[in-house]
Amino acid sequence: MKRKTLPFSATGLLLAAVASIPLQAAEPTPADMVDALNGVFGKHAGARGSHAKGFCARGTFTPAPAADSFASSRLLSAMQVPAEVRFSIGGGNPRVSDKSRSVRGIAVRLTGPEEGWDMVFISEPVFFAATPASFVSFLKARVADPATKKPDPARIKAHNEQYPEGTRQPSMLGAHAAPASYASTPYFSNHAFKFMAADGRSTWARLQFEPVSGTRHLSEAEEKSLPDDFLEQEFRDRLGSGSADLDLYAQPAGSGDSLTDPSVTWSNGPARVLLGRLSLDRYSGQDCNDRVYVPTRLPAGVEPSDDPVLRVRAAAYGVSNARRAQP
Ligand code: HEM
Repeated sequence: MKRKTLPFSATGLLLAAVASIPLQAAEPTPADMVDALNGVFGKHAGARGSHAKGFCARGTFTPAPAADSFASSRLLSAMQVPAEVRFSIGGGNPRVSDKSRSVRGIAVRLTGPEEGWDMVFISEPVFFAATPASFVSFLKARVADPATKKPDPARIKAHNEQYPEGTRQPSMLGAHAAPASYASTPYFSNHAFKFMAADGRSTWARLQFEPVSGTRHLSEAEEKSLPDDFLEQEFRDRLGSGSADLDLYAQPAGSGDSLTDPSVTWSNGPARVLLGRLSLDRYSGQDCNDRVYVPTRLPAGVEPSDDPVLRVRAAAYGVSNARRAQP
């Protein structure tokens, strides 16, 4: 049987059409994402791929009286829940200065009799990437040029042109000095979660911790005079005169707020709902260092959104944890 062939002109058209389909870059894997962190910060034995410098604290979480009408979690109806916390500085350099204008992190593990909840937040209300591809590109653009030992501004510009969200968090960080204390900065989930109440109502909200003693950044004089390591001692000294307290709020989404993009701020939607108070009364050195805090480890009544950044974090943190054991 004679094979049917496309006339020459039709074949040409087909090839032209195929060539005009933009090549879809493969979605980065969790290992690619940790490679990108290691590419900027290097590998440091035993350290996390990001938020490498940190320390641990212990205390309790006391739910607010109406918290369990927001989500039906047992953790929100308990009298008090034990809390384990790790404070950290963003990036994979375990010797980074405490004065650096980078994000501060809080990882909180609440442990109830039947369930647990990890909250892993940063000190700015936006993340620097909306997708895994944007995350990898942001970091690759910041790898130091071997000649100048600094990132190449042209590569950062090219990243920002492709991923305009890449400018938002850096400009927020540049607008104020570093926090004066881990207990004097707010922390934000940036991801949205669905909170389901026992009566069937559900609310999409982001979460945030607010320091009860108020927000305070370093003064110009402190930026000059303080040593590179002061946050740990400051926290220990602070506990000498009482607990370090942070209030947990849910910020419900307003109309038009994205439920899947952690790189954008939210409008002023409905009023915040107080969920409870985290009260830290014990510095515990590095006793939580081996933990992996997983932002999708959630209690009943709280569900993750389809935010692609949230969805990739557990796997990326697993890769980083496996690498911590390598020399
Ligand atoms: C593509 C998205 C992200 C990737 C690939 C990523 C990667 C990482 C990695 C590899 C670690 C170290 C994990 C470990 O060894 O246990 C880490 C820690 C951390 N990340 Fe992320 N991250 C992402 C997004 C975020 C976001 C959106 C936030 C907060 C809003 C955040 C906050 C933190 C904090 C606070 C820690 C320290 C946790 C601890 O103390 O153990 N990250 N991240």
